[in-house]
Amino acid sequence: MFAPNQILKTAAPDFLKDLDLTDDELLYLLDLAAEVKASPGDYAHALDGKNVGMLFEKPSLRTKLTFELAMKQMGGGSVFLEGPIGVREPLKDVARNLDRWVDGLVARVFLQTTVDGLAEWSRVPVINALSDLYHPCQALADVQTIREHFGVSRLNGLKLTFIGDGNNVAQSLMLTGLRLGMDFALACPEGYLPNPEIVTQAEGLAAITGARLLITHDTAAAAAGAHAVYTDVWASMGQEQEAVERKRAFRRYQVNDTLFAQARPDAVFMHCLPAKRDEEVTDSIMEHPRSVVFDQAENRLHAQKALLLMMLT
Ligand code: CP
Ligand code: NVA
Repeated sequence: MFAPNQILKTAAPDFLKDLDLTDDELLYLLDLAAEVKASPGDYAHALDGKNVGMLFEKPSLRTKLTFELAMKQMGGGSVFLEGPIGVREPLKDVARNLDRWVDGLVARVFLQTTVDGLAEWSRVPVINALSDLYHPCQALADVQTIREHFGVSRLNGLKLTFIGDGNNVAQSLMLTGLRLGMDFALACPEGYLPNPEIVTQAEGLAAITGARLLITHDTAAAAAGAHAVYTDVWASMGQEQEAVERKRAFRRYQVNDTLFAQARPDAVFMHCLPAKRDEEVTDSIMEHPRSVVFDQAENRLHAQKALLLMMLT
């Protein structure tokens, strides 16, 4: 179906946020991810001789290893550096060193402006591997997982519910889910709403696709009729000093047996991981037969292979 030497190249120079891909590119990427997952050997030389530079300001298990493996399994390579970007020398110099050596950059940053700045100054594609605003690579793997689980290519008519912080993961899922036609509900405590500009964009996408968007403080209203119930940690990386206050604010926003029972009987449980058991999710839900958290983790590899193919070939 996809000739490894004839992959559609994205029109976007970088993948800094979910909406950098067009709807058609996103659908193509998801089909390609499924193909790459089914026949990985067909792509064993697709990135021969290509290398990415990975700049991570924060820790990672899944993102780091799946990008490194994705490059290696397609004939390419990666170099990794962990630490603050733009402190030892200006970001614009870092970007213009790296683009002399590598074919693409993958950056995990505190501030979206850092990954945007790398893209502005480097001549090679830059991929956002998590920022304060977005986690777009995670959202790709998540919608791949939902498509697989429900056996559909279009997601219209499915409802995705996010319980917890209106954070980077929630914001990317909201944009990516709604543009694929999924209803999206988010239940969060007061003071932890998603970014208003991203909500405005999400409302625009919902108006186009006809999907419904609900942002509420009421977990039962959000969970009702959900095909997928998703959560993430209450305190993200960099918010550790707010952990105590957040534990108090989020105590009613735990995905446990009672909450999960309010979703559809065939609903799946999703989490980007790492998870904090007995905070945002109980062990019973993490280990539930309908928990697909490790499918999500696996699909990080396949979705990112598709993304790399579309950006680097
Ligand atoms: N979900 C995710 O991005 O995991 P890591 O922080 O381990 O990369
Ligand atoms: N919201 C979390 C996601 C980790 C993958 C964080 O930013 O730490």
